[in-house]
Amino acid sequence: MSIIAILGRQPELSLAELEQRFGSDSVYTFSDIAGLVETEAFDIQTLGGTVKAGKVIAELDKADWPRLSRDIVQRYSKELRGEGKLTLGISVYGKTIAARDIQRTGLALKQALKKNGRSVRLIPNDGTALSTATSHHNKLGLASNKLEIMIVYGRSSVIIAESTGTQNISALAARDQGRPKRDAFVGMLPPKLALMMINLSGITIEQQQSRSVVSAEDNKGEVQPEELAPRSEALSSDEHNRKGDQNRHTLLDPFCGTGVVLQEAALLGFNVYGSDLAEKMVDYSQQNLDWLAAKHTIGTVKIEPGDAIEHTWQPPIDAIVAETYLGQPFSAPPAPDKLDKVKRIVDHITSKFLENLASQIDSGTLICLAVPAWRDVRGNFTHLSTIKNLESLGYEWQTLKNVDVKNLIYYREDQVVGRKLLLLVKN
Ligand SMILES: C[S@@+](CC[C@H](N)C(=O)[O-])C[C@H]1O[C@@H](n2cnc3c(N)ncnc32)[C@H](O)[C@@H]1O
Repeated sequence: MSIIAILGRQPELSLAELEQRFGSDSVYTFSDIAGLVETEAFDIQTLGGTVKAGKVIAELDKADWPRLSRDIVQRYSKELRGEGKLTLGISVYGKTIAARDIQRTGLALKQALKKNGRSVRLIPNDGTALSTATSHHNKLGLASNKLEIMIVYGRSSVIIAESTGTQNISALAARDQGRPKRDAFVGMLPPKLALMMINLSGITIEQQQSRSVVSAEDNKGEVQPEELAPRSEALSSDEHNRKGDQNRHTLLDPFCGTGVVLQEAALLGFNVYGSDLAEKMVDYSQQNLDWLAAKHTIGTVKIEPGDAIEHTWQPPIDAIVAETYLGQPFSAPPAPDKLDKVKRIVDHITSKFLENLASQIDSGTLICLAVPAWRDVRGNFTHLSTIKNLESLGYEWQTLKNVDVKNLIYYREDQVVGRKLLLLVKN
């Protein structure tokens, strides 16, 4: 089955995530904002960087909108004939079409269906494409009578697809805001980025399902489980879960902070292992994971204090995903000497950590680290010197087909400290 994936705010990161998750042979760049994935097992809730996805119905030669619009009305007025009320949305990606023109297509389809006795609730377009929030709140793509037709313009063709759902923004927000311990100073990772980083490491749920595991939900907490993590059936089967924690892969975060990576990894079905220099953070992570475990059946959780420069972690460690020490936060670009000082401290911690880690993990262990990259007023980044020494520290860059793996940086326009993502493998 072909899936068209609408990529998030930083499309190259989202595409890299898809490639790591589904393999280079199954992921293609379709346009600047969309990727194509060949898979039978696509679950958007296990991805951080894809905002909407649809099953590809047809790939056509590029045509102007009136022509495509006619095709769509013709095709779907036949296809959707039948009983029961239909909720319908239409989204166009990759080309600017006036919202009212898209609305007109919807109304034409609505009329054609009405003639055949089927009533339609047409979702008004808030833009060329329905926003993730609109599609999510109307549950488009989640039932046969809630359809979102997606028209995605690519470089040389147009894809017609039917949405299979959007990223569950309310579940992500509930996980972010609902947990008991938060700490603005350490700079908590958004859950979406944590999820993306876990996938970017290259460790996949499929690999671990071959070791027979998945997570399940327990229906105990005050936050509705569906608000927290409505994953696919594959991830909510208690039956699999009971097969035991020893079958799960273990993911280590040696700079765990408040435990966002651990939380997302536990929900994906990994055993999680965290450490942090600060006792307070160890306590915060523990409390946040306890909170999660009260609502979901998760694997083992181990959290301990430790300086990543010299700590000895207990095996097994199957993957390392961490947002390492970022240095002090800045609200404006620092003066060069200040930046130089901070960079030197962070370089020291990062390189010593990597050296320590290399002596403890197996060759082939997969790693995704977010390290700081400082942005100046012109938008240029200053990078850690450690990045040039990764090979001598015992690591290699992973390789990707669709994006330049050495150029992945997560940042917001208003941020001075961006996060450079290092996708590595131990030599
Ligand atoms: C950027 S924060 C990580 C935040 C975390 N991702 C979260 O979402 O809460 C970096 C963390 O590294 C910890 N840290 C700093 N130096 C460390 C060291 N040498 N060894 C281990 N942890 C360290 C800090 O206490 C902080 O919790």
